[in-house]
Amino acid sequence: MSDSIYFPPSLQRFEPKRMVFSTWVDHLPFAYDLVAAIRPKMLVELGVYNGLSFFTFCQSLIENNIDGVAYAVDCWEGDEHTDAYDESIFLDVQKHARENYRGITYLMKMFFSEALQHFKDDSIDLLHIDGLHTYEAVKEDFETWYPKVRPGGIVLFHDVMARLKDFGAWRYFEELEQSHEEIFKFHHGFGLGVLRKPGGQAPETQLTQLLFKGDEASDQKLRQFYVHASHFLEARRQAGRFREITENRKKGGQGKATA
Ligand SMILES: C[S@@+](CC[C@H](N)C(=O)[O-])C[C@H]1O[C@@H](n2cnc3c(N)ncnc32)[C@H](O)[C@@H]1O
Repeated sequence: MSDSIYFPPSLQRFEPKRMVFSTWVDHLPFAYDLVAAIRPKMLVELGVYNGLSFFTFCQSLIENNIDGVAYAVDCWEGDEHTDAYDESIFLDVQKHARENYRGITYLMKMFFSEALQHFKDDSIDLLHIDGLHTYEAVKEDFETWYPKVRPGGIVLFHDVMARLKDFGAWRYFEELEQSHEEIFKFHHGFGLGVLRKPGGQAPETQLTQLLFKGDEASDQKLRQFYVHASHFLEARRQAGRFREITENRKKGGQGKATA
């Protein structure tokens, strides 16, 4: 890691407003910091489900005063890995978006292939690929959407360490690691891959410098940092819940916390 101290916004002030069950939970501090660092004007997520990752990106847009828009693409029907789910998931996401991110979020309830036509080439600053996790599906999502990413833009891949069932994001990402220079992989949780498209005028920030330095010792430190950041976030949430219960008890309530 660089010699200067890395003290990103997630450690300073991030309190997730959306907390739902998802294996994405381990990467929330990084998602928050990445948006704060690269300040995307256009962000697209492929695979939203109940919105944990998506609303973390949105929260960072707002709290870091970024003039950007976020598109959420999902058929909201489920796939072979999530299994089919009912309309209530979409309705809940829609409600949360309306109540918190009106005007900056667009929910596109359709298949990824249908959404493609709505985006110009070289227009997306941050693309998150988190649909079906077979090798073939991840490859197709990347290959069809990569032209839409602007040179210097960032692509995230979830589940690049998951080796269960027929998951193949890990295998596809390993192939990308052979052919891309600016690429990084978090190993914790189910893994998160980060790739920067070559070219363009990518604004260098402390985080992007750390991500794409290509030095194994520094990479290890960054990985460790975000393992700790995720534990720290969870500990702070638990402490908040404990405080809430204690205060409710003092007021003579039932001692119930809200999250
Ligand atoms: C793993 S979940 C997304 C998880 C989410 N990012 C989170 O933070 O928890 C995958 C989602 O992708 C959607 N999906 C998969 N393939 C799709 C496709 N080709 N078109 C549209 N949606 C798709 C599924 O409906 C499902 O909701």
